[in-house]
Amino acid sequence: MLATDAATWIKTDTHLASLLLPSTPSDPFDAALASHARFNLPEIAVSPLQGAFLSTLVRATRARRVLEVGTLAGYSTLWLAKGLGVPGAPAAATGLPAIVTLELEEKHAHVARENLARAGISGQEAELRVGPAVESLRQLVSEGQSFDFVFIDADKQSYADYFDLVLQLSRVGTTIISDNVVRQGKITDPTSKDEKVVGVQRFLKKIQASPFVESSVLQTVGCKGHDGFAISVVTTLPSKSRL
Ligand code: SAH
Ligand code: DHB
Ligand code: MG
Repeated sequence: MLATDAATWIKTDTHLASLLLPSTPSDPFDAALASHARFNLPEIAVSPLQGAFLSTLVRATRARRVLEVGTLAGYSTLWLAKGLGVPGAPAAATGLPAIVTLELEEKHAHVARENLARAGISGQEAELRVGPAVESLRQLVSEGQSFDFVFIDADKQSYADYFDLVLQLSRVGTTIISDNVVRQGKITDPTSKDEKVVGVQRFLKKIQASPFVESSVLQTVGCKGHDGFAISVVTTLPSKSRL
């Protein structure tokens, strides 16, 4: 088999991104990416092609409401919004925002609000809730909210807990994408002491054992190195428990 190296992945990623996603001056996506450096935020947003991939998945699943766990500067949020046709999509009759995105850090939330506003996305269209995601998710459950598409991308240590709560916010057919579940293949090491790796391993065991989803993992290479997305589709719902 022909092996490639990281330089080839990056070159190809750059090539495909400029082919498929030509950037324009004052593009809100580029501005959001640039905001990471400007505000000294970690450069861990999804790559442009990964973002466009999420957007097409949102469209393919005909999702109307999207939940994101881990906003950072809102770069992935912009792509999820694009898949929903936001801004511009008619507001749901319920008056609920099409996107809810959860972020722990007020500083990140502040930058994300700016990036969403630059793209013309209002707080009515995309609601940003600040605080520990477990608490925000519990709150959403207590409000009886539900979502068609979920992107899990916050602290890897809590992915298994997020998964349980997200199920309570799902309908049959809800698609759950979870980022960074390969981690350069480190997740194959059962003796790993890396808490992110251990968190992902716990999450993978959980989705494997769950009677409520059908799942797979797609490995990825590119400008973010070797990683992968888990995809889970909800097939049956857990009975409603009181939280
Ligand atoms: N989805 C973003 C990247 C998210 S990075 C993108 O691709 O553009 C992970 C984010 O999760 C960080 O902003 C971090 O502050 C946030 N986070 C970490 N722990 C969290 C928690 N317990 N609750 C909510 N958000 C958390
Ligand atoms: C990390 C987190 C991410 O969400 C990501 O896409 C890449 C790296 C990290 O915490 O290392
Ligand atoms: Mg990620």
